[in-house]
Amino acid sequence: MRDHPCGVIPENSVGSEIGLAGWVHHRRDHGGVIFIDLRDYSGLIQLVFSPEDRELFARAEKLRAEFVIAVRGPVSLRPPGTENPDLATGRIEIRVRTLDILNRADPLPFPLDETDTSEEVRLRYRYLDLRRPEFQNRLRKRASIARLLRAWLDERGFVEVETPVLTRATPEGARDYLVPSRTHPGRFFALPQSPQLFKQILMIGGLDRYYQIVRCFRDEDLRADRQPEFTQLDIETSFLDEETFMGLMEEMVRHLFHRAMDLHLPEPFPRLTYAEALARYGNDKPDLRNPLVLTELTDLSQQTAFKVFRDASRLADGRVAALRLPGGGLLTRGQIDELTEFAKSLGAPGLAWIRVNDPTRLPDGLASPIVKFLEADFLDALLKRTGAGAGDLLFFGAGAAKSVNEVLVQLRTRLGRDLGLTREGFAPLWVVDFPMFEWSEEEGRFQALHHPFTAPQVADLESLGQDPGRVRSRAYDLVLNGYEVGGGSIRIHEAELQRRIFSLLGLSAEEMNEKFGFLLDALGFGAPPHGGMAFGLDRLVMLMTRAENIREVIAFPKTQSATDPLTGAPGTVTAAQLRELGIEIRKMPSYTGN
Ligand code: AMO
Ligand code: AMP
Repeated sequence: MRDHPCGVIPENSVGSEIGLAGWVHHRRDHGGVIFIDLRDYSGLIQLVFSPEDRELFARAEKLRAEFVIAVRGPVSLRPPGTENPDLATGRIEIRVRTLDILNRADPLPFPLDETDTSEEVRLRYRYLDLRRPEFQNRLRKRASIARLLRAWLDERGFVEVETPVLTRATPEGARDYLVPSRTHPGRFFALPQSPQLFKQILMIGGLDRYYQIVRCFRDEDLRADRQPEFTQLDIETSFLDEETFMGLMEEMVRHLFHRAMDLHLPEPFPRLTYAEALARYGNDKPDLRNPLVLTELTDLSQQTAFKVFRDASRLADGRVAALRLPGGGLLTRGQIDELTEFAKSLGAPGLAWIRVNDPTRLPDGLASPIVKFLEADFLDALLKRTGAGAGDLLFFGAGAAKSVNEVLVQLRTRLGRDLGLTREGFAPLWVVDFPMFEWSEEEGRFQALHHPFTAPQVADLESLGQDPGRVRSRAYDLVLNGYEVGGGSIRIHEAELQRRIFSLLGLSAEEMNEKFGFLLDALGFGAPPHGGMAFGLDRLVMLMTRAENIREVIAFPKTQSATDPLTGAPGTVTAAQLRELGIEIRKMPSYTGN
């Protein structure tokens, strides 16, 4: 039906007749002539229908937005002065001689190039949204990123292996999606939260180097960077330590950015320990493009008379920290009040601040509602530690470390963005030396910070018995621009140690065998030392295409409430299907349709 895509018609075809097919993007009637912008995945081309051929013209008058047509006609140069420099085909047009209407389109629920339509509506008509050039570009970019990664891994001896989707629970910290078994009523498959155990078993099976671009399923609260089903680039290797493995992964990521975006990422990627990341940035996935940093004041605050700081510093998990804003002295009181409201909306009791006018005159050189409560040596140490100079502003958080960090992280992000401090580009880093365990107040037991198959650091093995909270793991996360884009670890490859970790996590011998007996067995038959990681492909593509959220780089994503407005999933099933599965629904909650 066509000789060229609409957007890439060679200029040397001027004068010859060609065939084109696509969608009616816009129609303009001008001085008795009809102009149509014909669109396909590659771009636009202008069609011209002149009134001389009355029958043809009459049919062109019937064309509406998104009709699908095929045309033939000569390529001509546009008359001087009517070229469109914004269009790849802006110097030419097609003088249509024949028109086939291949399909009609109903009036659209929203104009294609309008962006303020609700996402719910756009997801329901996803095929219309997909026709937009941004989506075309992002999905094509996604495919090329996947292709580059595959090629790189293939060349280095990684074997792509498919692992089951109907499986047992794989604990990655979220709820499982369950699938009832018809042949074993009362039993359920779980959709994998990741292929973690299968890839380990592939190493035990001697595959040596594995990868897979694989769908993972997690029933968790959704956010801009989270979907209930998402895609990992999942990788595992044998006989490599973390240094070698991380080096290999860095090389892959650098290769990807170089080939896909012509960008050179730093070599090597910077590294922070988990403790350093929390101390300097308040979380374990800092955006290093933002120059603002925190300063620890918890120790300094033990003895001050200022109750807000002193009380916080004496809490078991308390923290007092400052965020220094260089040049922030220019902020008005109104702006500071607004930031205080912002901090309060995040749960902070307040947002103490100090404006440094003249650091050589203490305390008079400081403007602040709290300076009167703070001793001279506190102020002196504060300025030294934060490095604050004339014209700077210091913000403070005091309270439970978790909430102080939450507030200061958001404040840091907001100031970086609103004041234009966060630079463009890409800032990768590794975060290492994570704690193995996190104490869960709710459950009254330790939980694995990563998954329970992560190996502890050899140097900390002794603490396993006495003080598990101090044990660091051999895990590493790859962070890019404030997002965790990947994570992994060296694994436990000895059954004995794996049993110890399970039991620290509160599993009885029986539970271990019931849930992970197959892994413990496998570890007992000559498991090689192994380790790997998984990248969140959606997140990586989101960042590389500068999309706002991962739904924009997934062809058919779910809404915030984990539904699909296009197909109406999840749907109901018949009574007969339920009977077959031995399932009875006691109370049907009303389905709200979103
Ligand atoms: P983890 O749970 O850290 O590790 O997942 C790896 C990466 O997957 C991405 N990711 C998500 N992306 C979108 N939506 C989600 N709901 C979601 N959850 C995670 C993140 C994350 O870094 N088996 C281990 C890996 C390993 O140890 O090798 C695992 O799954 O970018
Ligand atoms: P107060 O003595 O409660 O009036 O607080 C004095 C200053 O400290 C005010 O500017 C408050 O906004 C601020 N403030 C109070 N509690 C906290 C806190 N937990 N963290 C940071 N600043 C606080």
